[in-house]
Amino acid sequence: MKVLILYGKSPSANSLELAETAERLGHDVVAGSIIDVSSYVSSSQSRFWLKDDEVTDADVCFVRSFGPGTCEQLTRRISMIEHMEVSGIRVINPCYSFRRARDKYATQYTLARAGLPIAETYTTESMERAYRWSRELGVSVYKPILGSMGKGSLKFDDPDIAYNAWKMLSRLGQPLIVQEYLRNPGRDIRVFVVGGEVVGSAYKYGAPGEWKTNVAQGARMVDEPVPRETLDLGVKATSALGLDYAGVDIIESERGPVILEVNGAPGWQALKAATGVDVAEKIVRFAAAQR
Ligand SMILES: Nc1ncnc2c1ncn2[C@@H]1O[C@H](COP(=O)(O)OP(=O)(O)O)[C@@H](O)[C@H]1O
Ligand SMILES: [Mg+2]
Repeated sequence: MKVLILYGKSPSANSLELAETAERLGHDVVAGSIIDVSSYVSSSQSRFWLKDDEVTDADVCFVRSFGPGTCEQLTRRISMIEHMEVSGIRVINPCYSFRRARDKYATQYTLARAGLPIAETYTTESMERAYRWSRELGVSVYKPILGSMGKGSLKFDDPDIAYNAWKMLSRLGQPLIVQEYLRNPGRDIRVFVVGGEVVGSAYKYGAPGEWKTNVAQGARMVDEPVPRETLDLGVKATSALGLDYAGVDIIESERGPVILEVNGAPGWQALKAATGVDVAEKIVRFAAAQR
């Protein structure tokens, strides 16, 4: 098959590995930045180019990122990926599902609607309201609506420290996402799902003194058996969001496992190192079976 791989500004280790793996498995691969994709539409035809190479005949397109840009540039890129979908290119992950998974707010209500356990979450653009909720919650968490790798998330033990953050964030035009803090054993669980099946899972142990358990924040990924019900939760979360593959973060709270996020462009380098699973190969084989 002909595979198009689109990344943001520059390719991550995951995008490069996806390209190498698809080539190794005998596929035709074109990879580049989503920023460099152009498109054409008329009543009878749709065409797409990556720089000057026509990629209209791609069978599968892996979208790893919408890239950085203005609201308008992102609007064009999202429409373009949807345009590819309606033109018959199998986009992985599907455009809308990917968008929804990028957005921590949309992820929360989608999981809740599917009856899956989530952290209580408020959203607002009012710092006074955010302050009120921080006081009610006691310990609260701020999450950037488009965050990843733990970057930018904050934990407040003191609602007045939170107040100052709400004030600055709203001045910077950021929506305020206020979440309950879930007490946990200092670790969480990554469940990696491809095509409705768990291909790998591991515990992530946070660095000493660090409340976040992202590998990017110094957490250690350890290959230990994860309870069946937690693995099932990962599969259900992936399907609730409509994703073909995902990295699901699940925390062991006092009220049982809670889904923190569902990553639609998850990295797998740490998981691969911890478990030996060739995640890229699983993803490429899944894509090839879709045609
Ligand atoms: N509500 C919460 N209660 C306790 N810990 C949390 C909460 N939300 C996030 N965390 C910690 O922060 C990490 C990053 O949060 P997450 O929602 O996965 O965002 P990111 O996209 O930045 O990885 C989680 O893996 C977890 O360790
Ligand atoms: Mg996470």
